[in-house]
Amino acid sequence: MNVTILVGSQWGDEGKGKIVDILSNKFDIVARYQGGANAGHTIVIKDKQYILHLIPSGILRQNVTCAIGNGVVIDPIALLDEIKFLESQNINIKGRLFISPNAHLIMPYHKLLDSIKEGTDKIGTTGRGIGPCYIDKYARKGIRIVDLLNKEDLENKIRRNLEEKNNLLRKVYNHEELDVDSIVKEYLAFDEAIDPYIADVSTYLNTQILAGKNILMEGAQGALLDVDFGTYPYVTSSNPTSGGASTGTGIPPTKITSVFGIVKAYTTRVGNGPFPTELFDEDGEKLRKVGAEFGATTGRPRRCGWFDAELLKYSRMINGIERAAITKLDVLGSFEKIKVCVGYELNGKKLKSFPTDIVRMVNVKPVYEILPGWNTDISDTRSYDDLPPEAKNYLDFISEQCGFEISIISVGPKRIQTIEL
Ligand code: GDP
Ligand code: IMO
Ligand code: MG
Repeated sequence: MNVTILVGSQWGDEGKGKIVDILSNKFDIVARYQGGANAGHTIVIKDKQYILHLIPSGILRQNVTCAIGNGVVIDPIALLDEIKFLESQNINIKGRLFISPNAHLIMPYHKLLDSIKEGTDKIGTTGRGIGPCYIDKYARKGIRIVDLLNKEDLENKIRRNLEEKNNLLRKVYNHEELDVDSIVKEYLAFDEAIDPYIADVSTYLNTQILAGKNILMEGAQGALLDVDFGTYPYVTSSNPTSGGASTGTGIPPTKITSVFGIVKAYTTRVGNGPFPTELFDEDGEKLRKVGAEFGATTGRPRRCGWFDAELLKYSRMINGIERAAITKLDVLGSFEKIKVCVGYELNGKKLKSFPTDIVRMVNVKPVYEILPGWNTDISDTRSYDDLPPEAKNYLDFISEQCGFEISIISVGPKRIQTIEL
């Protein structure tokens, strides 16, 4: 039995989609446990690129079944668009996608409030309604997938919610109200389209575990965007860390066999918030250009910087990462020298533990070690032995500093550009 949690170990966009696709070869089921259409997971097979936002990245392998757990917040419009897109690519979804009735629905007012609120507090969200939807979930006002099954109840819930939201829009944000009837009509219609996919995901997953099936849990975002462990308040509103996988699917901690980390060979971040190793010079520009660092969901340029081993040590600890995939190693192929942050200093003193409060986090100074680059294009390299010695040295250094074993090295976006150890 293999029940593995796959987590983004930095600020998201580590290459989770690509690695889930590679690993799902060895799994029967891939399940998402948190986040929503704020995620953008890219998979490249031959010359075809797929960007998935809600449906697990295992969907591209016909013998894999996919599940969306209760911890995910679902935008029905995004979901149906994604299903339609995959079907247009001749990928069969029916009977291969199960959605938890307990997952919450993103409503039009969540997306609207996300964009209005962004005007003031500037987290730099993706605008997909994620924060406002989780607010309603925890305020016990949310509307869930299960509510689609009872038209009368659904209509009542939408009307009740809209009464409150329209008040808020008018009185607090001086914004035009939303039309209740058209939203009721729109959501009543989702029932028919989504009904075939609704299934008791937690019972299904636990039954499959008992039957000896292998399950991969696909995290979205990354550890430093975790609402509890990340750089709060510059985070998302869920728990991307491994702890979120249990509450987001109903697979108990006693059934989880390992935690696998996706680690980018340098650091990126989209949106606002502290980023100690961020580069504002031509090296940062080069990482963005060579690494094509533009958001898969919003297209925003990603902020880029050197690898941060101090951050990774913290991420390894809170996630329990044992093994990792290092992605985008090829992007470092044209640097003479490569820096790695091995600790933080604050007011001239080395910090003993990772600071998650913003005041210290924005003021820390990274302490760097400088490693020799390999100045070679490794995107066609297919075996560890063929990697340049400087690249091997870089991998050894990261692995030793961070305390995890590296079992996959990714040297390009395509399936074949992968070295498994
Ligand atoms: P995710 O959100 O963690 O799934 O990552 P994204 O898909 O948002 O961003 C990763 C980007 O890097 C995508 O465009 C991938 O196609 C690409 N990518 C993944 N692995 C590699 C790699 O090893 N090298 C290069 N050059 N690109 C990669
Ligand atoms: P994947 O799964 C990178 C960031 C946003 C913003 C913050 C809050 O592709 O790695 P939200 O819309 O979630 O309320 O925005 O989190 N963010 C991501 N950054 N990758 C993601 O997902 C992200 N999902 C959200 O940019 O800073
Ligand atoms: Mg992404």
